[in-house]
Amino acid sequence: MADLRRTTEMHVTFSIDRMRERDLLQVVDIEEASGLNRWGYDSYRREMLKNPTSVLLVARSSHTTDSEVIGFFAGWTVEDEMHVNNIAAHPGYRRMGIGKSLMQTAIDIARPCGVKIVVLEVRASNESAQSLYRKLGFRFVARRRDYYRFPTEDAMVMKLAID
Ligand SMILES: CC(C)(COP(=O)(O)OP(=O)(O)OC[C@H]1O[C@@H](n2cnc3c(N)ncnc32)[C@H](O)[C@@H]1OP(=O)(O)O)[C@@H](O)C(=O)NCCC(=O)NCCS
Repeated sequence: MADLRRTTEMHVTFSIDRMRERDLLQVVDIEEASGLNRWGYDSYRREMLKNPTSVLLVARSSHTTDSEVIGFFAGWTVEDEMHVNNIAAHPGYRRMGIGKSLMQTAIDIARPCGVKIVVLEVRASNESAQSLYRKLGFRFVARRRDYYRFPTEDAMVMKLAID
């Protein structure tokens, strides 16, 4: 895999790597701490082991000896489209470029596989994620009423053309 090591301007060094089975407990901790609709350990593990179209990445802190996971990305590709299922940075490591690096790396991986469009849904109230996606060039294309549960909320569908 290409060298995915990136350094932020803010004194946090991290690498973006493929997610491994031993990362999963940390991934689900970040998922729970981020208020995301729960996938849970088994779903990520199934994706990792059974879905060859999965793109599963982690951001790993370079400052801790035990390779602490400080962010993750979960998506899959279908023909010329990549769907983003989940992305999160650890609450203690936000606004340090982790979300952006995870998404850019996933796109870098997907592009040579023929992916031309990246699609995602985001809660209508999730300003920080929408801001990240807009910064990366995503545009709103639709609104799905009551798409989310716990709490019920509309989804904004966003797309990015990458070819
Ligand atoms: C959305 C999320 C993944 C962003 O990750 P992050 O590592 O904090 O984001 P980055 O540092 O890469 O931010 C890149 C850019 O996105 C925008 N951005 C990110 N967070 C923002 C915020 N809270 N407010 C405004 N803009 C924000 C900014 O333009 C930022 O660039 P800047 O810091 O130079 O201004 C993170 O907030 C998160 O984990 N949220 C909880 C989980 C979630 O909502 N996931 C999305 C599900 S659809």
